[in-house]
Amino acid sequence: MKVLAIVGSSRKNGNTASLVEEVGKGTQELNADYEMLYLSDYSISDCTGCEGCSKTGICVIKDDMQKLYKKINDSDAIIIGSPTYFYNVTGRMKNFLDRLYTYEIFDDDDRGVWLSYNEVFGLKYAVTVAICEQEDISEMGVTSEILSKTLSAVGWRSVANIKGLHAFKKGEAKINDPLMNECHQAGVKLAKTVFLAKKVKENFNKY
Ligand SMILES: Cc1cc2nc3c(=O)[nH]c(=O)nc-3n(C[C@H](O)[C@H](O)[C@H](O)COP(=O)(O)O)c2cc1C
Repeated sequence: MKVLAIVGSSRKNGNTASLVEEVGKGTQELNADYEMLYLSDYSISDCTGCEGCSKTGICVIKDDMQKLYKKINDSDAIIIGSPTYFYNVTGRMKNFLDRLYTYEIFDDDDRGVWLSYNEVFGLKYAVTVAICEQEDISEMGVTSEILSKTLSAVGWRSVANIKGLHAFKKGEAKINDPLMNECHQAGVKLAKTVFLAKKVKENFNKY
């Protein structure tokens, strides 16, 4: 089982990375092959809305996102995390999410009819992680929903959406034991979900 973890903060070993890493450790408990990367190490331009992907499902922009598409396609599960920046995900994360548009396909005549390639060829599974500085969850804004709703649109079902509060200094989230435990358990659940999906595919192929 391959698990890809994507961190949308440029702060290496920061709060997002700490929580994402703990979800990853949960998956490793079930022997997942786990890789974590920072979007800040990749050059990802914004989606130009050219619709170049609409016929083939392949994005025509030749930048580092092509490397990420390959990693994503090779993964069974995704862990994706962003700190809150002004009630939303980071700009880097938003660019990345917009580029997932290539995984959506629309009916030629009715754009109200659409689906994702993953829905047709096999759902994938995810855990989302959002972290913010303030104690009141309303200060997190739409960070968590942007992650989970975008993933859902491209055919990844989130088995857990972690919402961490009250972490500002680098790595501060690490000393929040209940939050770290929640992340760890989310990782275990993610790995178990992938195994269950594999079992269903093997044993119930008559469907
Ligand atoms: C540009 C910027 C905007 C931020 N906006 C918010 C916000 O709207 N609400 C909040 O609670 N924290 C906000 N924060 C705080 C971060 O979400 C918080 O420090 C987080 O733990 C950083 O995670 P990291 O260590 O992974 O970068 C903001 C931080 C920055 C740098």
